[in-house]
Amino acid sequence: MFTKVFAHRGASKQAPENTMEAFKLAYELGADGIETDVQLTKDHVPVLIHDEHLKRTTDGTGYVKDLTWDQLKMLDAGSWFSSKFTGASILSLEEFLQWIQSKSLYLNIELKNNKIDYEHLESIVYEQVAYYQLLDRTIMSTFNPNSIKRMSSSYQAKEIALLTSKRNKNIIPYAKELGANALHIKYSLLRPKLVKQCKEENISIRVYTVNKRRRMIRCYMSGCDGIFTDVPDKALKYRNLVQS
Ligand code: G3P
Ligand code: MG
Repeated sequence: MFTKVFAHRGASKQAPENTMEAFKLAYELGADGIETDVQLTKDHVPVLIHDEHLKRTTDGTGYVKDLTWDQLKMLDAGSWFSSKFTGASILSLEEFLQWIQSKSLYLNIELKNNKIDYEHLESIVYEQVAYYQLLDRTIMSTFNPNSIKRMSSSYQAKEIALLTSKRNKNIIPYAKELGANALHIKYSLLRPKLVKQCKEENISIRVYTVNKRRRMIRCYMSGCDGIFTDVPDKALKYRNLVQS
């Protein structure tokens, strides 16, 4: 099995993260899947943005949770990256799902509810993914253990992944107890033994965020199920060398 290459926030080295421009480019470059981050607006619309605050990636200010969708969609989410992308906008989850429906791409929707535990985020996202009949190719992930519990007890997606950046020798039993069937780990936690244990326990394992050639090769040699990368073209090139 090939290690799947997920474009992290789209092809985010070449285009502004989490915009249609970055997703389209990831698709054109041949990524197997797309990872994106979701938060809720004041009027409970799921939108694709990494930070809780608007300052880094838009020309707006304040928190995503304090603005309505109508207010957010007017913002420029491209010019911070390059003037070439002026006019790129924040996407709603629904716009993204409509676009991806006709493409053969996996989806990893990361719920950004570890700092702000948005009420009903899980059910709102699930309903939309189910409406577009994408559950069988969607991985839901979060750093929030309570959110994993809520998802695993109520919803069916292809996979529910616990994200972790901290070393924990009991991470597999911990993830299983919460109801996760996948682990998404920071690159520094990658060990061949952990990948082997995940395989034995039937837990998928993917690694973020892998942009350097040496790290990509180490992931591929370990046999992990996927990597998240800002440079999917580079990741595919080395995967083809290592795994073909
Ligand atoms: O889902 C993998 C990765 O995106 C998690 O971290 O901060 O880049 O969303 P972050
Ligand atoms: Mg993410």
